[in-house]
Amino acid sequence: MVTPSAPHVYLQDIANWDGKEITLKGWLYNKRSSGKIRFVMLRDGTGVIQCVGSIKDIGDEGFAAIDSMSQESSLTIRGTVRADERAPGGFELIMSHVECVATALDEFPISPKEHGTAFLMDNRHLWLRSKRQVAIMRIRHCIVKAIRDFFDENGFTLFDPPIFTNAACEGTSTLFETDYFGEPAYLSQSGQLYGECGAMALGRIYTFGPTFRAEKSKTRRHLTEFWMIEPEVAYMDMWGAAELAEDMICFVVRRVLETRAEELKVIERDAAILEKIQKPFPRISYTDAIEVLKKNGHEINWGDDIGGDEETTISNQYDRPVFLHHFPAELKAFYMKHDPENPKLALGFDVLAPEGKGEVVGGGQREDSYEELVARIGEHGLKVEDFSWYLDLRKYGSVPHAGFGLGLERTVAWLCGLPHVRETIPFPRMISRLKP
Ligand code: 4AD
Ligand code: MG
Repeated sequence: MVTPSAPHVYLQDIANWDGKEITLKGWLYNKRSSGKIRFVMLRDGTGVIQCVGSIKDIGDEGFAAIDSMSQESSLTIRGTVRADERAPGGFELIMSHVECVATALDEFPISPKEHGTAFLMDNRHLWLRSKRQVAIMRIRHCIVKAIRDFFDENGFTLFDPPIFTNAACEGTSTLFETDYFGEPAYLSQSGQLYGECGAMALGRIYTFGPTFRAEKSKTRRHLTEFWMIEPEVAYMDMWGAAELAEDMICFVVRRVLETRAEELKVIERDAAILEKIQKPFPRISYTDAIEVLKKNGHEINWGDDIGGDEETTISNQYDRPVFLHHFPAELKAFYMKHDPENPKLALGFDVLAPEGKGEVVGGGQREDSYEELVARIGEHGLKVEDFSWYLDLRKYGSVPHAGFGLGLERTVAWLCGLPHVRETIPFPRMISRLKP
């Protein structure tokens, strides 16, 4: 049967083509031969399939093409789809025509054997082709889409903040400074302050964009460039924002479980652990958390920052995320509203992910008094004139408002069960990594 028009099909749709002749376009993942038969594992970015061909099916040219190609050569194969329970993915392709598009000029650096992390990171542009990395990128995409769907379906408007900013939002120690026509400009540490402008204009908004922190820390959780989702809502208090975060996280986890079961299998992530992520998440105050930490042998006092190890001790007590709330105001950013019942405390919260994955969300209620905010800006060593536009939100119809920021890469690391954020983003930027 000659069907020169055998349509191009992506492997993710192969189940719709059983018994039909199609064309696959991809790269050679692996191959082997056994006597008069050639086996080609072809990957096309959406899946991998075993293709089988005898000399009578694909001729001498077909055999020669296959024999000339090494791993990651590009090729197209025409053939007939055949359901086969034993085949990985449930289907095989019986080849009728093979064509090499470009032979790999060198041996592909990333073979199925074990490689060290530094080598893989240096070859990140190629490492991304591996099954595991492809699965992680698909789950990342699913998380992004789920977050957007959650907010879009709940009346929020996407609001894009600038990347070049004139002032610090999250402290001056992690600012990336650039030269902006002779003036200093800073890469955005957070879209929040602009998001607050959006909330006053549109009621409920979310920002979703890259953010930058000149983090000197080499940890498993820190990138210098990461993506953050920051909803901001007018007429909302701290606990309203906490519930919003809880609902969003549950929505996202559900979506990953429902649509990315295959990818979770590829990366050997136990879905049963994620099934437990249900509301309500426990809520524990900073003050109570300090007591828990002391009981667990941490040398920590009220007023100290809660670091990574401490976060792990707290989150290990639960099988779902936990809210840590009412931190000492001194530990938090200038914009946090102080608790009217105890001004030493800030009306803010963090969400700690389970399994020691650390803080994935930081948020809370914003200072809405003009005078308080002016004082706070001064106390933090910032210049009031830099924030004149931000202060205008308190001048013209100030309202209680709140929001939070979710770190996308930490969320991907948590849901995928990855020990390090470096595999959660196509090209991670870290203190000692700018290439590739
Ligand atoms: O806690 P952060 O610094 O909060 C803010 O930026 C607020 N403006 C958010 C808001 O209320 N709108 O950052 C929020 C989240 C953290 O919980 C963490 O998940 C992530 O952003 N994050 C990082 N992720 C990777 N690398 C880094 N260096 C990160 N710093 C923060
Ligand atoms: Mg934080």
